[in-house]
Amino acid sequence: MVNNKAQKNKGKKMKGIILAGGTGSRLWPLTAQTSKQMLPVGGVPMIFHPLNVLIKAGITDILVIVSPEHSGKFMNMLEPLLRSHGINILSGIQEVPAGLPEAFTIGAPFIGSDNVTLILGDNIFQDTNTITNAIRQFKVGGHVFAKEVEDPERFGVATVDNNNVVTNIVEKPEKPESNLAVTGAYIYDNEVIEAARKLKASDRGELEIVDLHNFYLKKGELQLSKLSGAWFDAGTKESLREVDAFAADNNFVDNFDPILVNALEKGFAHNKAMGKAQLLACKDVN
Ligand code: TTP
Repeated sequence: MVNNKAQKNKGKKMKGIILAGGTGSRLWPLTAQTSKQMLPVGGVPMIFHPLNVLIKAGITDILVIVSPEHSGKFMNMLEPLLRSHGINILSGIQEVPAGLPEAFTIGAPFIGSDNVTLILGDNIFQDTNTITNAIRQFKVGGHVFAKEVEDPERFGVATVDNNNVVTNIVEKPEKPESNLAVTGAYIYDNEVIEAARKLKASDRGELEIVDLHNFYLKKGELQLSKLSGAWFDAGTKESLREVDAFAADNNFVDNFDPILVNALEKGFAHNKAMGKAQLLACKDVN
């Protein structure tokens, strides 16, 4: 069955979505005037880190989903920077933060009949290779990434069989069956769109990503890769400070995909030249 599906899925493209909406309430007042995903991590706005993972995986079509008050700002920054490097950046709007699966309903026209990788805009990974390899090798079903943690009860916790197929995922379990916390990067085949459309809001009023995982898990089609290295969710002031320092100390930006390094260098040179030109124009006026 999985083999038949894999055959059908052959030749499909992989699209990328970064979910960068939300309210960032835990970071207030840092997020009073700007989006969480624009805050600096290791010398660049946070969103560059998930963007790097998608670009490094060879994905050239990327949808950035943002909240209405920040619409335009991400496009103004990213589109001119990446246009000439063969990366198509599009933007989508999530009116209210109604849950992660909305990425697939808002993104449905963008995904079309292709597969899709979703990364949360505030998730930063040191082990980008494991994710990019899985994206490149993806055939069918779903694929999640987990990190061994000491406090699994704070996360979605996965149990796997000997083939790394997920057999169980529980959100914030009181008695975790494993120490594998599910992180904010997910790969799905095209069925995710219909599955997301059918979801109902949970008791806390949101659509839940764990329900999408369960959709694939029930079919035996949810694969898991364990991540090495550090994983951060930059949602609190403490974790933001920590990841900013860690990314700088470990040269995350210098190790970005060459496309992104090149784009950043060109952007920097362009801005420097613009600054000089403005200065000269001011001198002329005076
Ligand atoms: P969260 O950290 O759960 O939410 P938040 O960013 O609104 O922050 P806070 O809880 O402090 O108010 O979100 C994780 C990531 O997913 C983050 O990058 C924002 C994004 N997100 C959306 O874009 N839309 C959503 O509906 C949700 C739930 C999250």
